[in-house]
Amino acid sequence: MNVSAPIVRGEVIKRMRVRSVAFFGTARAAYEDSRPLAIDDIQPVPWAARGARRFVEVTVVSLVNRTMQRRQFGTTGIEVSELGLGCARVGGIFQKGSGGFDELLSRAFDLGINFYDTADMYCQGESEQLIGRAFRKRRSQVVIASKVGYVLPGQRKLVARIKPLVRPLIRLLGLKRARLPAAVSGQLSQNFEPAYVKRAVEASLRRLRTDYLDLLQLHSPPAEVVRRGQWLRALQDLQRSGKIRFYGISCDTLDAAQAALEVPGVVSLQVVVSLLEQRMAEALAGPARERGIAIIARECLANGLLAKPEAEIDYKSYCDSPAQEAERRAALVEYRKTATQTGKSLSSLALQFAAGVDSVAVALVGASRTQQLETTVRAYLSGS
Ligand SMILES: NC(=O)c1ccc[n+]([C@@H]2O[C@H](COP(=O)([O-])OP(=O)(O)OC[C@H]3O[C@@H](n4cnc5c(N)ncnc54)[C@H](OP(=O)(O)O)[C@@H]3O)[C@@H](O)[C@H]2O)c1
Repeated sequence: MNVSAPIVRGEVIKRMRVRSVAFFGTARAAYEDSRPLAIDDIQPVPWAARGARRFVEVTVVSLVNRTMQRRQFGTTGIEVSELGLGCARVGGIFQKGSGGFDELLSRAFDLGINFYDTADMYCQGESEQLIGRAFRKRRSQVVIASKVGYVLPGQRKLVARIKPLVRPLIRLLGLKRARLPAAVSGQLSQNFEPAYVKRAVEASLRRLRTDYLDLLQLHSPPAEVVRRGQWLRALQDLQRSGKIRFYGISCDTLDAAQAALEVPGVVSLQVVVSLLEQRMAEALAGPARERGIAIIARECLANGLLAKPEAEIDYKSYCDSPAQEAERRAALVEYRKTATQTGKSLSSLALQFAAGVDSVAVALVGASRTQQLETTVRAYLSGS
């Protein structure tokens, strides 16, 4: 099959009959290198329904009409997909079970995503575990970026152990993430001491079932911690021993990001880049380019504000104050107008903005369900 030929979205590449659904996995494996193709459907063939042998028909269709582009990740020589998967919600307690996340990760890969951003504390470590399980047989085909610096409070460690029991309870009570009582989620603290950083990386490697991280990022250090740099020796040791290939810093404030630009050996900065929050991109794009530092754009969909239909948005959970709510409502009205005029969805407009910012090597897309990811990425790739 010539995968470099232009592919039309929805084009049926192949139909085949297999004896049982169990063969579906085998068929998927056969196609896993032919991104952006995906095995899209399983349908019983008509005569199977009449009680004959249990054949199923598998249809291989193209998911997109342009392939995901690859870009250089700063000066590292690593090639990353223009969109990456933000895995903060992979393994979350707000979903039914962990099975859906295997599908989410597998579909991300099928869509051409090779960059996976996670952290040791995301979903109490389950995010790393699920990534490790999904990519253990194709480790060299993915770029894994994790983070270190947050310490899980006791309450969250407990939640991790009893997750299978907590999930149904949360669904029964209809609890939303924003409404989870602080007593349950617990206060997070940070630790950037060299010994802690090294221990935490060893634990990440175990969960990820790998012997190296492509990128280790400090997880939201305050500016003074970045400037003090007591953690730098630990990162250099980890790099020398081959446990991490490169290191970067994920920053919550402009002050911290500007300090990070000056740290020797830093290859990437992860910052918020969205239509609703453009300050960091404006200030950092130029200096990052001059230093060959890759920007990882995050929260490009403003945590969902730029992806969800207006009727489904609970503004209170996205805004810190009534003034911010009014400002964001007004901005969204304008961006929706632009999206309509240009024939795009709002999420496409938002991702095109983020991926188009100078020095952005990869724009993260967060998703808690496969359907969300697929809708967002397909629309982005098809420009609609
Ligand atoms: N300090 C840090 O280092 C830091 C901080 C924040 C984020 N990050 C990284 O950045 C990544 C992205 O952040 P994010 O997930 O908060 O932001 P995001 O990409 O701006 O938003 C993702 C959320 O948008 C909603 N969404 C996406 N597609 C949708 C669709 N088609 N229809 C409806 N809703 C849709 C979903 O919300 P629901 O799940 O509510 O449905 C999804 O979880 C994270 O996963 C993490 O890797 C890092």
